[in-house]
Amino acid sequence: MSNRKVGIIGAGAVGATTAYTLGMMGTCDEIVLYDINQDIAIGKAIDIEQSTIYSTKVTKITGAKDASDLEDCEVVVITAGVPRKDGMTREDLLMINAKIIKDVISKIEKYSPNAKIICVANPLDVMTYVIHKLTSWESNRIIGMAGALDSSRMAYEINKFTNYGCSGIKAMVIGDHGENMIPCTNLSNIGGVHLESLISKENMKDIIHRTKNGGAAIVKHLGTSAYYAPARGIAVMVQAILDDNKIVMPSSVLLNNEYGYSDVTVGVPVVLGKNGVEKIIEIDMDEELKSKFDDSVNTIQSGIDILKDNNFFS
Ligand code: APR
Repeated sequence: MSNRKVGIIGAGAVGATTAYTLGMMGTCDEIVLYDINQDIAIGKAIDIEQSTIYSTKVTKITGAKDASDLEDCEVVVITAGVPRKDGMTREDLLMINAKIIKDVISKIEKYSPNAKIICVANPLDVMTYVIHKLTSWESNRIIGMAGALDSSRMAYEINKFTNYGCSGIKAMVIGDHGENMIPCTNLSNIGGVHLESLISKENMKDIIHRTKNGGAAIVKHLGTSAYYAPARGIAVMVQAILDDNKIVMPSSVLLNNEYGYSDVTVGVPVVLGKNGVEKIIEIDMDEELKSKFDDSVNTIQSGIDILKDNNFFS
């Protein structure tokens, strides 16, 4: 029986907006925000719960005073992490965020050992791998959120271009959550109609380029990374798990011989339901797509190797 309690680690921009989005959707009975800055978690929790008063269902939202408040969550979302700052190398960032993950994972293992974990911390695919390695949990219970966001960005670009389609636009972005992400035009459609029939090759290239640069374009204006669309993507995944919706959503998962790879996390289409990843879908890849997918996996593997070289796992 589902207790519909969700823990959100990190009450910053993404974490708090996720709580707000879930509150507006009425998806959960209870949300606990946990942050090393306790007051931020408590203050935002009160504000967000007050915002649910106008909803048909009030969601209980609390800021954790102690990690034990995370007890018995059905889903835990990890958004704790630091962004890359001036003078920080990729290696520095990886080590700092992996150490933060280590800290929060020890708490989740203690208080919510049966939870499904949705990882949002960046670099996304590598941090998702870190969680798999640190917990050794069944791999279906650990899922990286990137495809939900990148696919919404691709659908947005398609809608901006065509001016039609709205929620009937199905877009699919696989691969890493970074420069080698793969917006798949042949797996995307508007109301079931293939994009090839609706958008020229030239314009499709532009849509792909804009999708890949969707996050960076926002940072340019805001000076910080996005949070509304990421939060919505997370909330849709949480809902799929709590309601056992079995939606198909590209997500970063640990491969075990799928696509010819093992022991690496990467974005591929999966079925999401009450067990987390219910199924990893293996799509047919032509040579061009396979080569792009290999590039994506190699980028993620190089991040994992940095952590291994720095003895993070030993
Ligand atoms: N335990 C709990 N909370 C922590 C810890 C920790 N060990 N370390 C950091 N935090 C908290 C911070 O106090 C902060 O409130 O994580 C929160 C992060 O919030 P923001 O700095 O606002 O970052 P945000 O924009 O929410 O992004 C969070 O999601 O999309 C990714 O790249 C993004 O990795 C980043 C993460």
